[in-house]
Amino acid sequence: MSLISIRRYLSSFSVKLFLWFWFITLTSITVSRFITNQLLNDDNISIVAEQVNKEDLHFLNRIKAKLAQNPFAQIQNNHKRKKHRRTDLTLWTQLPSDRLKVDKLSKQKGRFNDILKKHIQTRENDTLQSVVYSHTRITGPIPVIYKNQQTLLFVSKKMPRKTFQHFLKEMPLWLKLMIPLTISFTLCIVLARSLSKPVLKMKDATLKIAQGDLSTRVTGLNTRQDELGGLARCFNQMADKLETNISAQQRLLGDVSHELRSPLTRLQMALALAQQKGEDQEQYFERCQKEINQLDEMIAHVLTLSRLENSFKPLNIASFSFTRLLKSIISDQQLLAENKQVNIECNAKEDITIQGDSHLLSGAITNVLINAIKHTTQNSTIKIALIDNNHQLSLTISDSGNGVPEDALVKIFTAFYRVNSARDRETGGTGLGLAIAKQAITAHQGKIFAQNISLTNKEHQGLAVTIELPKSQVNQ
Ligand SMILES: Nc1ncnc2c1ncn2[C@@H]1O[C@H](COP(=O)(O)OP(=O)(O)OP(=O)(O)O)[C@@H](O)[C@H]1O
Ligand SMILES: [Mg+2]
Repeated sequence: MSLISIRRYLSSFSVKLFLWFWFITLTSITVSRFITNQLLNDDNISIVAEQVNKEDLHFLNRIKAKLAQNPFAQIQNNHKRKKHRRTDLTLWTQLPSDRLKVDKLSKQKGRFNDILKKHIQTRENDTLQSVVYSHTRITGPIPVIYKNQQTLLFVSKKMPRKTFQHFLKEMPLWLKLMIPLTISFTLCIVLARSLSKPVLKMKDATLKIAQGDLSTRVTGLNTRQDELGGLARCFNQMADKLETNISAQQRLLGDVSHELRSPLTRLQMALALAQQKGEDQEQYFERCQKEINQLDEMIAHVLTLSRLENSFKPLNIASFSFTRLLKSIISDQQLLAENKQVNIECNAKEDITIQGDSHLLSGAITNVLINAIKHTTQNSTIKIALIDNNHQLSLTISDSGNGVPEDALVKIFTAFYRVNSARDRETGGTGLGLAIAKQAITAHQGKIFAQNISLTNKEHQGLAVTIELPKSQVNQ
């Protein structure tokens, strides 16, 4: 697997979709686990410190000394001093009724104080110790006499918020729920939009094409490497093909209706003359027959061209001997050439096998050869050169006629184009032969082009039509 194909695979839509869902699922699992932990209150997990915290002990001893002087002294945590801002002071008093009374002396509220309360109530003995919860340290108890009662003194201190985990732990529950909800909501929106936007674009483009605007294309998605980018490119290719096919059809239809008129008019005239003249009708009927044949030929050509232009019909690809095909085409046209005292010279000796639709290729080559015979001068030679170039072959048919004007070298391959309309029509040409040949060769991924053969100090010395064909057909 090459690096490019791996990259293409990773940017594919299915992988993206998979990663998105996977990511969202993992986020949900992680967050729900975290919240469950929080709800189970991992503050219950405590570690007894090896030594009593000196700072806390000093603080407790200070209060003990103060109470020794005056058991009714006002004990308050001094929150104004930065050092004590995170300190929670609690006095636990044993009441005569054996009930417990917890006096909260500091102003700390909520969870911080809850941990301290829970610690006091659940501790096992009265040994002075420092116990560290996840982010709270509690030191105590120190027995004192407070308001004439035996009382135990504890101090709790919030540890500095060192970690992100502590920060998260202290968040209110609603915020803890909101964060994963917001993250997954945003991710899902991004995913949904990245899915729906191109689909909507394509839907709009399809609608426009359905309404007849064949120039519509999907824009902005061509660079996307995933399946949707591929779909957009295919859509545009389809629209291109549709546009060229339909415009080719419209052009052909216009040309056909125009071209059909001339033989029909001549047919009408011949029939009218045959009706008028009582005797000698034979020659008019012959004329009618000729026109009908021409019409028949033209319709057959139009149908072939239309099928090839639409490329709906798949090619009948098979391996065959090109040399043998060429020789049979030459022998078929030998009679036509002899009538004009034209000699056909072919250099093809070796047997060249190619893959292709032999019927279509035969039609294309026959037309080029007939054209050459029609346009070459009497008593001349038509040269056929077949060159085998490894993967492709090149066939050139050259005559010694007048050639065509330079600006018509390309035009002769368009339907109904004839250099000399009146004369070519008279000779029976429909002007479709080379257009059909071009479509047939293009369908084989080959090329066909014409060049005037000019010799130095001389006028045009005829036309050379070259057909280049790949020997094997791929993607068929
Ligand atoms: N070898 C040639 N020498 C000079 N002109 C040519 C030659 N081959 C083709 N042409 C010109 O190109 C035009 C188009 O050729 P094309 O084969 O398409 O039509 P056609 O021969 O007139 O009719 P069709 O082949 O349909 O019976 C011809 O009418 C002719 O004017
Ligand atoms: Mg022709």
